[in-house]
Amino acid sequence: MSKKAILEIDGNKYEFPIIEGTEKELGIDIKTLRGATGGITTIDPGYKNTGSCESAITFLDGEKGILRYRGYSIEELAEKADFLEVAYLLIFGDLPTAEQLDKFDKDIKEESHIDEDMKRILDGFPKSAHPMGVLSSLTSALIAFNPGSVDVDSEEAMYGAIVKIMAKFPVLASWTMRKRKSLPLDYGDSSLGYVENLSKMMFSRPNKTYEANKIVNDALDKLLILHADHEQNCSTSTVRIVGSSHAGLFASLSAGISALWGPLHGGANQAVIEMLEAIREDGGDTAKYIAKAKDKEDPFRLMGFGHRVYKNFDPRAKIIKVAAEEVLGDLGIEDPVLDIAKGLAKVALEDEYFVKRKLYPNVDFYSGIIYRALGIPTEMFTVMFALGRLPGWIAQWREMRLRKEPIGRPRQIYTGETYRAFKSVSER
Ligand code: SDX
Repeated sequence: MSKKAILEIDGNKYEFPIIEGTEKELGIDIKTLRGATGGITTIDPGYKNTGSCESAITFLDGEKGILRYRGYSIEELAEKADFLEVAYLLIFGDLPTAEQLDKFDKDIKEESHIDEDMKRILDGFPKSAHPMGVLSSLTSALIAFNPGSVDVDSEEAMYGAIVKIMAKFPVLASWTMRKRKSLPLDYGDSSLGYVENLSKMMFSRPNKTYEANKIVNDALDKLLILHADHEQNCSTSTVRIVGSSHAGLFASLSAGISALWGPLHGGANQAVIEMLEAIREDGGDTAKYIAKAKDKEDPFRLMGFGHRVYKNFDPRAKIIKVAAEEVLGDLGIEDPVLDIAKGLAKVALEDEYFVKRKLYPNVDFYSGIIYRALGIPTEMFTVMFALGRLPGWIAQWREMRLRKEPIGRPRQIYTGETYRAFKSVSER
């Protein structure tokens, strides 16, 4: 017997079906609400209680700290898979066979060249430009050089656009870092694996023979997997709503990069390190910063703490915390900031303010410590997040387009002036 929800307004009863997902989540289907009630709508700032879609890509359980991509647990994928495999899984729905993975890899490598004129766009930015702004602009600029990637209604045409952006995005991301460091651009080496090639493009130096570092590459691969998708977060919802107007994939991704940039979202990984550095320079006084975070008069927030969905631990943060200790140990790095992070987390997790609000370390709390150990500059941290989230954004955009979902257009409740006649300036 399917469940129903009944709404009573002014003595009138309205019935709405309740849909149940494969993980027993329930959602009231209000598609007919305005029509049935003569125009009544819902209001839910931040969409804290509103589902935008049904999706078969990623499942989160915020109470139990569960995260699965297409049914596979993040713990197993982080341990046993590599990033390109996970990208294929998210986008196409299953772990690839050896042949499928080989074809995906080859098709991507085939598209990893960048039009020379793109360099002139990069040259136009000051060195001080934030890499996320540069990356969003370059992603949008790619459209001009790949016009066939825009009107993609067929799966085949979508595939063409997908392998193009999977190939070019890491090149552009590495360019944003090399631009800031005044390094000559690196076009990569298609004999390398996806993450090995990213490393080379980021870390190669013109005056030295590049030597791959397995510790660095393994850590990067794991971090990219952990960031690959997270259901309907702010930037993914942005990609979906921009894509719902049938703007192309690259335009939708460019918008998603801008949404991820915000310090309340992906930009938090940069803000966490800046916060930890400030605490270190302030003599490591974690109590002072915990007090600031609790003070309603103080706009300071404990960056890397709290989450809209996880009201228990963020499973990614647990994995990244262990990886941070392993990577620093393997690289022989003593980073006082890690000790400050662990001290801050310990105090916060025992403090009633954080416990009552169910605020725990999220994916951004420890990730910057690894990026730092890998020699990645702080302002590049959110670019690293975008590199990981790319396949998730693609998968969500593809699902929305293949399901032919309607253009996203939320309603509102108007609370402004009611009608008033125009007054000429002499009457005002
Ligand atoms: C990501 O959605 C996703 O899945 C995102 C993400 C992904 O993979 O895509 O997981 C990636 O964005 C992780 C989150 C990174 N952001 C940060 O670390 C920034 C710090 N965190 C917060 O700004 C906040 O926790 C959010 C934005 C993450 C969540 O905000 P919500 O769900 O809107 O919660 P809220 O702002 O309504 O806070 C509830 C209460 C408030 O206090 P009261 O008004 O109830 O007294 O908790 C407090 C908040 O003031 N609070 C914090 C806090 N986070 C929430 N207080 C101090 N420090 C914090 N970090």
